[in-house]
Amino acid sequence: MNVPFLDLGAQVRELREEIDDAIARVLSSGWYLLGPELETFEAEWAAYTGSAYSVGLGNGLDALALALRAYGIGPHDEVIVPSNTYIATWLAISQVGATPVPVEPDEATFNINPEKIEAAITSRTKAIMPVHLYGHPADLDPILEIARTHRLRVIEDAAQAHGAEYKGRRIGSHGDAVCWSFYPTKSLGALGDAGAVTTNDPDLARDLRRLRNYGSTKRYVCEVKGYNSRMEELHAAVLRVKLKHLDNWNSRRRGIADRYGRSLSSRNLSLPVEASWARHVYHLYVVRSRSRRALQLHLEHLGIGTIVHYPIPPHEQAAYSDLRMADDSLPVAHSMHTEVLSLPASPHLSDSQCQLVIDAINTFSE
Ligand SMILES: Cc1ncc(COP(=O)(O)O)c(C=O)c1O
Repeated sequence: MNVPFLDLGAQVRELREEIDDAIARVLSSGWYLLGPELETFEAEWAAYTGSAYSVGLGNGLDALALALRAYGIGPHDEVIVPSNTYIATWLAISQVGATPVPVEPDEATFNINPEKIEAAITSRTKAIMPVHLYGHPADLDPILEIARTHRLRVIEDAAQAHGAEYKGRRIGSHGDAVCWSFYPTKSLGALGDAGAVTTNDPDLARDLRRLRNYGSTKRYVCEVKGYNSRMEELHAAVLRVKLKHLDNWNSRRRGIADRYGRSLSSRNLSLPVEASWARHVYHLYVVRSRSRRALQLHLEHLGIGTIVHYPIPPHEQAAYSDLRMADDSLPVAHSMHTEVLSLPASPHLSDSQCQLVIDAINTFSE
């Protein structure tokens, strides 16, 4: 492959010594869960995201589900969610027994369209879950305003938005709870599964710390029916190393996006945009093409890896057949899923690899 979609090994090679040191430190500490590495990472991640609290968890899906659970959202409740997101956002709602109520996205930013939210609110609605998809923040102010008016929680899915900014402020504390994934391919990724919630709500932080540890704050005393979902010391130590490089990596991602934006022919392609109030971190660089399959094959033929994020919208997944939603009931999500294609744009892509992608796309003819 001339240009792999993502080469996680390149990231580790860049930081090999620092990562080895961090791992060695944990190994010799003799302490592997809920220890000093997690505590320090939580403080560093709270500071980075501008939030008062950060609670490290087992993965991003748990971060979403535990935030819902901590706010008492469960059976008979409805949660508003984008129609075009990774399935985990919907699964978190289902895990607590609530019902996802999809709202279509804005065509330009791929994020939930605030103008369509109010029509979806019922007496059972308890929360809105905006997703900052692909690294572009959702338009939070109108969402927060609707939530205030209708007394709803705002639980953000920030799994793809490490370092993104909304109106000059980093994502991390706009809503009641902001949920993170540190899955290895994320812009800040662990060496396995890890997640977190950031918040300014002290009660939420306390409840999440209890929920992640069997519902206990005191050993062998179970106060609520909890889970086992704790970020491991090894992951926290590695994330601390990588966090120091996140801003540089995001700048590099933005540089690649800028170059693509200036050089890719937009004849048959629509390119991602950045709203005037947003700082996009291009976790994914997603274009839209009516000839996606042909374009993907053309690139594959030239040794360029691409991925579709995502091929099937949640309401068309077998898992959600119980909602009985026709495929064409959410036409914006449906058409996005048939047209989106993510190009290689990781910070470790070289300038010459970038040029190969540009040349390959500009020579594509249907
Ligand atoms: C938008 C979104 N939400 C939630 C998740 C779930 O995170 P995790 O894989 O850590 O459970 C992911 C990533 O996988 C994601 O991209």
